[in-house]
Amino acid sequence: MRKKIIAGNWKMHKTPAEALQLVNELKVKTVNIEKVDMVVCPPYLAILTVRAVLKETPIRVGAQNLFWENEGAYTGEISAPMLVDAGCTYVIIGHSERRQYFHETDETINRKIKKALEFRLKPIFCIGETLEQREAGQTFTVLKTQLDGGLQDIDASAMQNIIIAYEPVWAIGTGRNATPEQAQEAHQFIRSSLAEKFGRPIADELRIQYGGSVKPENVEALLSQPDVDGALVGGASLKADSFAKIIEAAEHLSKH
Ligand code: PGA
Repeated sequence: MRKKIIAGNWKMHKTPAEALQLVNELKVKTVNIEKVDMVVCPPYLAILTVRAVLKETPIRVGAQNLFWENEGAYTGEISAPMLVDAGCTYVIIGHSERRQYFHETDETINRKIKKALEFRLKPIFCIGETLEQREAGQTFTVLKTQLDGGLQDIDASAMQNIIIAYEPVWAIGTGRNATPEQAQEAHQFIRSSLAEKFGRPIADELRIQYGGSVKPENVEALLSQPDVDGALVGGASLKADSFAKIIEAAEHLSKH
């Protein structure tokens, strides 16, 4: 069975001092969690502080982006070896906000995924359609293009280290989550595309998170779908209470 994975994407929120408070609370609230992988993705500046608090806990730390070179004259960028050194295990790649505001393309996302894998960082690779694309009936085509582009030339053996996050753009930060049925339909499509590409056994092991307005109130219904293996949580990960409730729901479902 695929172990559920809940990740918090803090986006551009929390100073190091605020981050410290949040993870100290989270640490206490998650002491009894055994069956769920937990990840927090703070802004770069808070990574060291967060990692220091979580070091002896099962909660792993991720970054929200990286650059595809190891070092060099790339003002403002952060590299994979720097993230590894700071204690990161995961890195979010290709989030729709990065595609939209920072012009990331399937090609640059592919480079970033390869670099992350080279340094044994686990990519949380985000894909998802806009409302316009959904209404035009293009959802599956968009997902397929993003998957093919982002995973180009990636070896099947590397797939066990990749998490896919299906995040419909219209559901992110809008309070309007996909229905469990919409999520399942997209996740099933993603899994069968990956089965075609990498073989059924690999696709069956791969974890696909849902993201977009996940909250304590809707997480159980979403995670109950057979192909939904976790959640990438934005807004609701900024408070220890709501994030811990989401994790507890995943733990509860994993016990039955
Ligand atoms: P949201 O963000 O939970 O605030 O909708 C999710 C994400 O962008 O990863």
